Amino acid sequence: MKYVTAIIKPFKFTEVRDALAASGISGMTVSEVSGFGRQKGQTEVYRGAEYASSMLPKLRLEIAVPDALAAHVVEIIRAHANNDEIGDGKIFVFPLDRAVRIRTGEQDDNAL
Ligand SMILES: Nc1ncnc2c1ncn2[C@@H]1O[C@H](COP(=O)(O)OP(=O)(O)OP(=O)(O)O)[C@@H](O)[C@H]1O
Ligand SMILES: [Mg+2]
Repeated sequence: MKYVTAIIKPFKFTEVRDALAASGISGMTVSEVSGFGRQKGQTEVYRGAEYASSMLPKLRLEIAVPDALAAHVVEIIRAHANNDEIGDGKIFVFPLDRAVRIRTGEQDDNAL
């Protein structure tokens, strides 16, 4: 299994979520986060306003997937979160050792 984490621009969330929902994933966690990338110190336009701060609002998506689905999920996120602008985000993929579905006790791929 893999744990796919993506930091994306908030306005892209609906498009990314809808594309992922059609891709076979069974769940997703979303958090509001802030961060910066390579242009730290520079401004980046966010909802029409220029933020002088180097910390900008982003959304973090977290999706646990079977190994066979990981590359597909990464490409869906990349394609739909891409706005061809700085700050569009980043995707990180972690190995996932174990998953447990609390209600049923199912494990690993069966728990996703
Ligand atoms: N190396 C990193 N480690 C952890 N989080 C990161 C890293 N790089 C970027 N992020 C997160 O991703 C968000 C978006 O990063 P961003 O897209 O600006 O990356 P970038 O490398 O500067 O690429 P670009 O040149 O396209 O802007 C950041 O606000 C931060 O939350
Ligand atoms: Mg950047």
